[in-house]
Amino acid sequence: MSRSRFKVQGSRFKVGKGIAYCLLLTAYCLLAAGCRYDMQDQPRYKALKKSDFFADNRAMRDLPEGTVARGYLREDKGFYQGKKAVASNAQTAPAQTSLDASGNTVVTTFPDAIEEFPVPVTKELIDRGEQRYKIHCIVCHGPVGNGDGMIVRRGFSKPPTYNDDRLRNAPVGHFYDVITNGWGKMNPYASQVSVADRWAIVAYIRALQISQNPNGMKSLPITNASMPATNSANNATATTVTNTAPTATATPKPAAQGGNR
Ligand code: HEC
Repeated sequence: MSRSRFKVQGSRFKVGKGIAYCLLLTAYCLLAAGCRYDMQDQPRYKALKKSDFFADNRAMRDLPEGTVARGYLREDKGFYQGKKAVASNAQTAPAQTSLDASGNTVVTTFPDAIEEFPVPVTKELIDRGEQRYKIHCIVCHGPVGNGDGMIVRRGFSKPPTYNDDRLRNAPVGHFYDVITNGWGKMNPYASQVSVADRWAIVAYIRALQISQNPNGMKSLPITNASMPATNSANNATATTVTNTAPTATATPKPAAQGGNR
């Protein structure tokens, strides 16, 4: 501020008032500048950073005991884990596993895996599953699930075929579990494939299995009027095709139900 402005102010107000006004204005400016934080500058910790504030020096804090982050309650055990809500007694005895000739882990009993899809099986769901299968699984498991994908042809361990009685009879919850948690030599895909997409892939695997054994398997419980009930026509055991109203979306649970895991 120049002297001349003081003079102008001085002539307008009484000198004392003018100085007080100036001081107040300066104080206000200083205060306003001191208190202001832009959104991008706000003090916050980045994930996994150090903090001197907490005794253990971790900025990230554990959830208070007994609490669940919003959207992560995941009460629906069938949908999120592929397991029955009430564990069978057999679960207490771990499933018998053995290794086959190619070193694959073979399990034939799945006491706690759910048998029925926890989502409506629609044509859209299967189409989505096909798309995801071709991105994530085909490289090893091959186009119809015989375990002869490109990576395997170039030397990776050969997975078991989906098209034998063991995996044909395996409940849907088992496939979901394998994708979520991995299996023997196979990595988990939970971080790459969302919960809903895992079910879509399982539906597609079932479709692949049926395609390789059309008369020997129960058809998919498709709930979509637009889907022709072809499987039930030549399959005496099929009772599951129902013509309820078409389901609009392939991902019936909202994304807000939580991230991928
Ligand atoms: C990098 C190769 C690879 C990819 C990609 C892969 N798998 Fe596998 N998968 C394997 C191998 C190897 C095994 C056998 C593992 C073992 O028994 O040790 C296996 C086993 C399985 C089994 C059989 C489990 C059992 O009971 O024997 C299923 C089901 C399966 N995978 C599903 C999937 C699905 C679905 C995807 C895609 C989301 C996928 N896999 C992606 C290599 C792969």
